[in-house]
Amino acid sequence: MTHKPLLATVLGERQARPPIWIMRQAGRYLPEYRATRTKAKNFLDLCYTPELAIEVSLQPLRRFDLDAAIMFSDILVIPDALGQKVRFEQGEGPILDAVDETSIAGLKPEHAMEHLAPVLETLKGLKAALAPEKTLIGFCGSPWTVATYMIGGRGSTDQAAARLFAVRHPGAFAVLIDILVATSIDYLVAQFEAGADVVQLFESWALNLDDVAFDERVIGPNRRIVEGVRARVPNAPIIGFPRGAAGNLARYAAATGVNALGLDYATPLDFVRGNLPDSLPVQGNLDPLRLVAGGAQMDERVDAIISAFSDRPHIFNLGHGIVPETPIENVARLIDRVKNG
Ligand code: CP3
Repeated sequence: MTHKPLLATVLGERQARPPIWIMRQAGRYLPEYRATRTKAKNFLDLCYTPELAIEVSLQPLRRFDLDAAIMFSDILVIPDALGQKVRFEQGEGPILDAVDETSIAGLKPEHAMEHLAPVLETLKGLKAALAPEKTLIGFCGSPWTVATYMIGGRGSTDQAAARLFAVRHPGAFAVLIDILVATSIDYLVAQFEAGADVVQLFESWALNLDDVAFDERVIGPNRRIVEGVRARVPNAPIIGFPRGAAGNLARYAAATGVNALGLDYATPLDFVRGNLPDSLPVQGNLDPLRLVAGGAQMDERVDAIISAFSDRPHIFNLGHGIVPETPIENVARLIDRVKNG
């Protein structure tokens, strides 16, 4: 098999320069994404139309020397596939008909994989189109993060609705998490079968949890997914990204069994040494707003990140998704800096 530097790094091989991809690399900061987006009826339609989803997944690789393509989709296709209505309003983000302790029983996991079939077609198309040295990344949202949207009905800064629901209705909450774990395992296994080289678990809301809640809602379900996927795809390469895990980060890495750990931009560079095993591959962690501003402050931080992780396997990335107002020339400058120093 051709050497794929990014996949090899996830598997523990340090590279002379870090490979790079960018979370949300296909998106609104690219004019060609905005143009393709108008061809779809709405955002979910874009996710479910393989021809368009393949096109937007490849757009960033035509412009930049990235080491990976990530399939174009969203973490909220899972609630949609379970029969919960999801829509995306311009400027508002996702809006869902919130589930409650009675409606959870009405979710339809038996139809989910059929509904997600177009996303797997996207992966097959990408696999055929990508140069052999590029890594193909699949993903899903982790159960707690997806549940915060399903219970809250929309994004929030404190996830209060889901945090309250989990302690007020522990039985119904456990049923919901079980459904999400089982569906995510089937979905990720199908992604590997369709050609994904590695998958990322997006636990975007790993913050705001006490340590007991973190164990139950984040570590437990992420570990069950890792084990469930590996039971069917031996040694499946998995990146975990528990955004905001802070003081729970080391336990997350040790207990879930992920191959590589995504670091958010608030993780201090000197926390990693001494708190995480030297052999553990890390991914991250530039603040996306440093990329918006660009210039010398960005270059200095990029150099500091590369230098802090130079003795371990490291994949360069942002510490959260790229934002729409990012200037394209700053992305080009970032990638050149990472690749060539
Ligand atoms: O990385 C990629 O290029 C692949 C595509 C991808 C999208 N969403 C496309 C998208 C991925 C990996 C995601 C993950 C995702 N989706 C997460 C986890 C990562 C994170 O940022 O924390 C979350 C929490 C979501 C849920 C979601 N989707 C929200 C909250 C929003 C609205 C906010 C926003 O950025 O607009 C979306 C919409 C969305 N997902 C867009 C894109 C390109 C913008 C929608 C548009 O084009 O109108």
